[in-house]
Amino acid sequence: MADKEDLIQRMNDIKWFHSIPLRDGIVTPGLDNSVDKLGQVCLPEDLTGKSVLDIGAWDGFFSFQAEKNGAERVLATDHFSWTGPGWGTKDGFNFAHEALNSKVESLDIDAMDITPENVGKFDVVLFLGVLYHLQDPMGGLRVASDVCNELLIVETHVDDLHRWKPSMVYFPGDSLNNDDTNYWAPNVAAMKGMLKDLGFSRVEVVYPKRPWLRYSLPVRFLSALKGVVERRGPFRQTINQGRMSFHAYR
Ligand SMILES: C[S@@+](CC[C@H](N)C(=O)[O-])C[C@H]1O[C@@H](n2cnc3c(N)ncnc32)[C@H](O)[C@@H]1O
Repeated sequence: MADKEDLIQRMNDIKWFHSIPLRDGIVTPGLDNSVDKLGQVCLPEDLTGKSVLDIGAWDGFFSFQAEKNGAERVLATDHFSWTGPGWGTKDGFNFAHEALNSKVESLDIDAMDITPENVGKFDVVLFLGVLYHLQDPMGGLRVASDVCNELLIVETHVDDLHRWKPSMVYFPGDSLNNDDTNYWAPNVAAMKGMLKDLGFSRVEVVYPKRPWLRYSLPVRFLSALKGVVERRGPFRQTINQGRMSFHAYR
């Protein structure tokens, strides 16, 4: 019991992004609804024998989940939120790593500096919540593509959902969610086009259970109204925005 109390006390001294289930019902108090996001990302439930690279891992929720799903090797990478200019640190990752008795490896490296020469190549690459933070999104996708042998999973802000032609919206200053580290939101056609141009043969938009609840026009309409109340932006903008996950296969 003292052990559990000590764990909780040490955990509460850390500023968390991810909500990571540890043990005995203890979940790290993150801002992010990580378990809900896991459903949206559709991470394969069986990763037995796979190598997985998690680019922008932060507290490591998805790295630890990949390990739980059977991955043989997992490498978690980050810089911005570990030792870079972001508000985060690596304390959460280190704490969860110890609490979960994890074998996940880690490397402090900026997303744009990753190459096959310095990290190797992986069966599965996770590029979750990173794309819209990059000033050069196509360059970021190329980095992830270059180190991917089988499956690249990208989760991102999307915009222009009403357009069939490829497009990408630029957000000056902090105009996307009051965060000046957000730059770009592509639409579905742009994501599919970029990933195909990078050599992926098949690109799928993956949906959580009951996708019509999340992406149908009435639901986007209500979400956009909520966005106006929460001052996330004008209605005509938020009605066409959302978050989506893409699975790209070699
Ligand atoms: C929204 S968090 C997503 C964390 C995790 N991958 C997830 O999906 O829950 C964004 C991640 O991108 C990383 N990142 C990489 N380059 C960045 C940049 N230029 N600006 C902001 N964040 C950046 C951050 O360190 C952080 O880990």
